[in-house]
Amino acid sequence: MEEKRGQWGSTFGFLMAAIGSAVGLGNIWGFPYKMGKCGGGAFLLVYLLLVIFVGFAVMLGELALGRKYGRGAVGTYAAIAKKWTWVGYMGVASGFFILAFYSVLGGMVLRYMVGFLMQMFGAAGFNNMGGGEFFGHFTTNAGGMLLFYAIFMVLNIIIVAGGIEGGIEKFTKVAMPSLAAILLIVIIYVACQPGAGEGYRYTFVPNFDVLATDFFTVLKTAAGQMFFSLSLGMGCMITYGSYLGKEQNLESNMMIIPIADTCFAIMAAMAVMPACAAFGMDYGAGPGLLFVTLHEVFNVGMGGFIGNLMGFLFYFLVFLAAITSSISLLEVCTAYLIDKQIEKGKDPNRKKLTIMIASIIFVVGIPVALDGIGAGRAGGAAIDIPATLLGITENIPVAVDCWLDFYDCISEGIMMPLGAMIMSIIIGWVLGTKVVADEVAKTPGVVLRAEKVLDICFKFIVPAIMVVVLVAQLQDFF
Ligand code: PHE
Repeated sequence: MEEKRGQWGSTFGFLMAAIGSAVGLGNIWGFPYKMGKCGGGAFLLVYLLLVIFVGFAVMLGELALGRKYGRGAVGTYAAIAKKWTWVGYMGVASGFFILAFYSVLGGMVLRYMVGFLMQMFGAAGFNNMGGGEFFGHFTTNAGGMLLFYAIFMVLNIIIVAGGIEGGIEKFTKVAMPSLAAILLIVIIYVACQPGAGEGYRYTFVPNFDVLATDFFTVLKTAAGQMFFSLSLGMGCMITYGSYLGKEQNLESNMMIIPIADTCFAIMAAMAVMPACAAFGMDYGAGPGLLFVTLHEVFNVGMGGFIGNLMGFLFYFLVFLAAITSSISLLEVCTAYLIDKQIEKGKDPNRKKLTIMIASIIFVVGIPVALDGIGAGRAGGAAIDIPATLLGITENIPVAVDCWLDFYDCISEGIMMPLGAMIMSIIIGWVLGTKVVADEVAKTPGVVLRAEKVLDICFKFIVPAIMVVVLVAQLQDFF
């Protein structure tokens, strides 16, 4: 079984893959602006508490279940009890939908990276347009969006088809240290710009008033962000855990991955927000930050050769972050198919299965690419294609107003918190936290020291927080 499924070659390799999964667009895009909006240091405090009381527990739970049963999300829940199989399917479905929109965004990042590279060599990388104008132009250009989306998906296929050790581990072992190095360069360069200080202030200075007046919003924003950012609640860490050998220390891994992810998020904030401040850009721009504001920062604010170089490096690092995450999403889907083949007594063909599932996901993501991640709605022709194909011409329901939001809402908004909640309940109340502690203790010389605290987390804290998130999400949805 192990032979057919594959295994991590080393602890370092596993950690790079798992941290690579966690560190992604969520850190570089979502975290800085959410932090700025939700009270800076106050948000950070809530976020850290959530990581400690929810993140650690769910991370450990997923890794332990994965290693114990040696299967992907569906196989693991089915092995616990047949009646829980649907939770595994929900995880695979989340991976499926997240990958669809994530890859469209990944493709856009590639386009921006190429644009700055072209400008470094004197070509017109962005057709001489400004940030907002180019964004509108590109997102309504159906051919361009599809082309870069397809390239990004093919890169995913190549890595995942290479297998656990020969593909994912090999790639992330190089990609993650490179990402860290580039991020440091950008942070240092940005710190040297006059006016950067205001960005740190906006991001980090605590505003406890927000906590007092709008605690619920801060909690829900921080909790949702933490889940997505740590790749939890959809079986990703179950799947990665299933490739772990018994010699790997689960107790330390459960902390290293969330801590590293949080450090990367804070570092991203230290690059992005001061850069906006130094060049007088509006950092309250929300989701537009990554593609409109930062483009403007590098292209106009910094400008010249150094602007192009920094722009290229920055989008290259975002690309690395995105692809080391998207391969983990694809792996969740591929692992499901591989496990199914093995169950049937067949020899799984990883390459074929990866190509097959990625192609289906690609088709599902086409509407996201064509409606220009919702931005095209203001004027492009491309946006109406997916709606028209579905026979919707007028009064497009709010949920499908933007396909990215729609896929995001059903996966990140509903299925992931639900998945995490049920997993915690299964561990806390059905299997007992002892199952996790026993799995940790399979590594010679390791005992789970915080078993009692974790038991309280699984039984009460995680389910309670997840209910808050779910209720808040459903309220937003309707
Ligand atoms: N953690 C990734 C990010 O922050 C996204 C992700 C979610 C990856 C779920 C895998 C599973 O961007």
